[in-house]
Amino acid sequence: MQNKVDYEKLFNYGRNIKLDCKIGEGGEGEVYKSQPIDGIVYAIKLFRLDTNNAKELERRLTKIIKEFQLFKNIHHSHLINYLYLDVPKVIESNRGFVNIKLVMKYVKGVSLSTLIKKLNTINRFLERSKVVGITRNVLHAIKHLHSLNIVHRDLKPSNIIVDEEFEAHLTD
Ligand SMILES: Nc1ncnc2c1ncn2[C@@H]1O[C@H](COP(=O)(O)OP(=O)(O)O)[C@@H](O)[C@H]1O
Ligand SMILES: [Mg+2]
Repeated sequence: MQNKVDYEKLFNYGRNIKLDCKIGEGGEGEVYKSQPIDGIVYAIKLFRLDTNNAKELERRLTKIIKEFQLFKNIHHSHLINYLYLDVPKVIESNRGFVNIKLVMKYVKGVSLSTLIKKLNTINRFLERSKVVGITRNVLHAIKHLHSLNIVHRDLKPSNIIVDEEFEAHLTD
């Protein structure tokens, strides 16, 4: 289990949080583990954005900031908490990724999509009780979002991380 998040420390670290290994890749960019800060590891998303198209860049940036502001105040045991968004004054691109960092709570586990694929390769399926548990966790998360008048709009197995205790956590 991870310790309590020290927001002030995270804020002070800001753009100096160092990346460790890559843990995933999706439509929006790549996700890395951070190097520990006082023993706590975070998940950091780097966004793939086209800096040559100013209008599109502004649209995506506005969406990222809006989503962060919405999610940072939502705390639920089955929702992955957004902790910090670093947006420098000057947006620069490197390998197609911009210098914006979204810092999230890191969940040690695998995405549901990876888990299903892995099981498929050995001709196995998730046990019924596990499916029920994951579904229940995700529904609790969605119910909480709906109580705040938020619609997720991107429910998919790669946005569900299953931890070592088989608890599911919804992200994005
Ligand atoms: N907070 C997190 N903790 C652990 N792993 C994560 C976290 N966020 C994302 N990941 C991993 O990174 C992968 C890619 O995430 P993301 O960029 O959001 O892609 P997608 O477009 O598929 O949703 C996820 O499927 C998951 O394996
Ligand atoms: Mg995602």
